[in-house]
Amino acid sequence: MHTITEVAEDIYRVNAAVPDSPVTFSFFVIRDEEPALVETGFSALFDDAVTAVRSIVDPTTIRHIVIPHLEGDESGALNRFLDVAPHATPLCSPIGILTLPDYSSRPPRPVADGDTVSLGKHSLRFLTTSYVHQWDSMMAFDDTTKTLFSSDLFIEAGDGPGLVDDDRSDAMAGFYSAIGFLPSKAHLDMALDKIDALQPRTIACHHGCVKGGRIDAYLAAMRGLELRAVDWNPLLMAEPSH
Ligand SMILES: [Fe+2]
Ligand SMILES: [Fe+2]
Repeated sequence: MHTITEVAEDIYRVNAAVPDSPVTFSFFVIRDEEPALVETGFSALFDDAVTAVRSIVDPTTIRHIVIPHLEGDESGALNRFLDVAPHATPLCSPIGILTLPDYSSRPPRPVADGDTVSLGKHSLRFLTTSYVHQWDSMMAFDDTTKTLFSSDLFIEAGDGPGLVDDDRSDAMAGFYSAIGFLPSKAHLDMALDKIDALQPRTIACHHGCVKGGRIDAYLAAMRGLELRAVDWNPLLMAEPSH
């Protein structure tokens, strides 16, 4: 069920299409001296997900599991991965540490804004991005390949290639307008300032295609987004069944 695409050197997108879901779901594997996962996917998809991971790295060697925020698609399979990766530590935001310890079978480690963790060749830098879109949200940035792991920012609906270099920012902005799940313009702008300063080359987002070009257009579209409150939108219904 999962497909694998190398989106930057030794960084792999592992993507699942879930029946009836308007979005696909990705997580990322970084192959290095200290292998890392960014996001885990849903618990219900673990068996197929770990098979995909095994084709990239030996899961028992995973050392870091980055949790961008507490939510089924971002962190649902955390304990399943911790079971097969005895040396792995979950990494979460300073707000995430208020909640994640109660859900994680191994103590998570909070990382502050600007903290870095070396994986060997790659080095992850963490950005605290509260309320983009959850209060405990954070992102990670690989200094080596300039890849931003943007979690639920820069996402889009539908299926598509693993990696694109054309400008799909209009579709992205339309999707955000429809789902209305970014609650705060001030917090969004603060996150975009941090991202701008890093000059990413690739945006490895959690839903939809990874962006390998026209990053300027995606950033501009996000800056211009008009946020509105939406109670609930069926576009967000996406849970796979066990
Ligand atoms: Fe999310
Ligand atoms: Fe998500």
